[in-house]
Amino acid sequence: ASDANQKIDYVFKVVLIGDSAVGKSQILARFARDEFSLDSKATIGVEFQTRTLVIQHKSVKAQIWDTAGQERYRAVTSAYYRGAVGAMLVYDITKRQTFDHIPRWLEELRGHADKNIVIILIGNKSDLEDQRAVPTEDAKEFAQKEGLFFLETSALQATNVETAFLTVLTEIF
Ligand code: GTP
Ligand code: MG
Repeated sequence: ASDANQKIDYVFKVVLIGDSAVGKSQILARFARDEFSLDSKATIGVEFQTRTLVIQHKSVKAQIWDTAGQERYRAVTSAYYRGAVGAMLVYDITKRQTFDHIPRWLEELRGHADKNIVIILIGNKSDLEDQRAVPTEDAKEFAQKEGLFFLETSALQATNVETAFLTVLTEIF
């Protein structure tokens, strides 16, 4: 059925955050349209895309928000987080700095979002194993300490992208 005549039981807002170039927009493109682009442009301001899926016999419209990782392109943060029930905190497994910044993103998230928000930590670009700079164990340990879900994904190869969204959406349920 097309979106237009489909009954929607729930609309869940999920936000993507993390440093510039970690792959937030491509994770979203993979999830929403099953697309990927290597010459992805930096996001300016805020964008969102939706995809409707069936979870536990209910139709759920996932409204995924994407914003700029670059400070100068970011929109007002409180508006971005308003109403969000899920968050994906993304770093690049080949760039240690993007993982080191995760505590800051988490702080911003916890400062602006609802306290019950479901959060998943995502190490993206798992296809670049030969350039890995963040051991899986480090991220797993951090996620455990902070009470976050954790997965490594590849938007390029479509690895774990679906699972990451389903993990968040199912937990919100
Ligand atoms: P901002 O919008 O500036 O915050 O960046 P972003 O986090 O949205 O990054 P974006 O999705 O634009 O991706 C940045 C670059 O990484 C692009 O060249 C993408 O093609 C590339 N990229 C994204 N995901 C992957 C992946 O899983 N593997 C590989 N090898 N490259 C990826
Ligand atoms: Mg982007």
